[in-house]
Amino acid sequence: MEETTPRKKRILSGIQPTGTFTLGNYIGAVRNWAKLQDEFECLYMVADLHALTVRQNPADLRRNTRDAAAMLLAAGIDPKQSLLFVQSHVPAHTQLNWILCCNAQFGELSRMTQFKDKSAKHPDNVNGGLFTYPCLMAADILIYNADLVPVGQDQTQHLELTRNVAQRFNSAYSDTFVLPEGYTTKEGAKVMSLQEPTKKMSKSDTNVNGFILMSDDADTIMRKFKRAVTDSEGIVRYDPAAKPGVSNLMSIYQVFTGKDVAAIEREFDGCGYGDFKVAVAQSVIDALAPIQQEFNRIVADKAYVDSVLAAGAEGANRIAGRTMQKVYRKVGLMQL
Ligand code: AMP
Ligand code: TRP
Repeated sequence: MEETTPRKKRILSGIQPTGTFTLGNYIGAVRNWAKLQDEFECLYMVADLHALTVRQNPADLRRNTRDAAAMLLAAGIDPKQSLLFVQSHVPAHTQLNWILCCNAQFGELSRMTQFKDKSAKHPDNVNGGLFTYPCLMAADILIYNADLVPVGQDQTQHLELTRNVAQRFNSAYSDTFVLPEGYTTKEGAKVMSLQEPTKKMSKSDTNVNGFILMSDDADTIMRKFKRAVTDSEGIVRYDPAAKPGVSNLMSIYQVFTGKDVAAIEREFDGCGYGDFKVAVAQSVIDALAPIQQEFNRIVADKAYVDSVLAAGAEGANRIAGRTMQKVYRKVGLMQL
């Protein structure tokens, strides 16, 4: 993976190791990552530094970081094709973070919805890292000159900020960074909570019935879908505004069956929600089962996971180090 001869467009994405991934993470992000590997040069990262913006139990964070990497491998990230690494293993991310912090404005950082949401959720820990979180994310992306960033819809605001900061840096110090584009698939860009379908599915939801974890067993998945909030109309019809619950279930079903909305409406015409929910749950169970099996196999082999991450860190450090040198020189830090 040589930066000087980029044949393919480059992709970077990251995911925080804050517990097991949800179905939202899988559908909105991870599922697409594996598919992009043939067409693009891909770098995938476990964003452990970002996780520190919320108080973490150190032992859990360590375990969750390795588990996250194992889950990405299970979901089809191929270390022969792509670089898989842990954010904190590439120190240049934090170095560039500082430079970008000095090029981001208080006002624009204050407008970030995720900052506002997380501050409201953890009023006792509105720390500086939470505020400058998007600068670190921008550093993750810009340090590799990534062209595309596959993320769920909730990250588009951060990407916009990344582009703005990159552009500002480029015009102040001459062309340095590629302006990255978001890469969001139409279906499943935002998977909603099963309990409150106007809110995104999130593992920090206090109601565990609101989310499906990638590690949930078949019975749990079935039970959670059976309890999913719908409406009283009793007709399987796609209308996100009027029928957010049913529409969310339809979107999930669409992702795993490849059927379009009209076909799903026909399939469950006159059926009521019971059969529909069972079918949706089954499609999820069938999709997750092989990944769970792979995960169990891979996570048991710690040495393998660590060797993948070591190789990933080496490759990533090589690219990131070069960008960092260039940036330090451009902003006028003295070189020896
Ligand atoms: P996070 O868990 O915040 O690190 O998110 C990792 C990735 O999953 C990001 O690309 C998010 O955009 C995506 N993601 C998280 N929750 C959802 C959701 N409910 N629907 C779709 N994508 C999501
Ligand atoms: N902020 C992202 C999230 O919470 C995770 C992330 C960190 C990321 N660095 C990134 C995503 C770089 C894409 C690119 O979902």
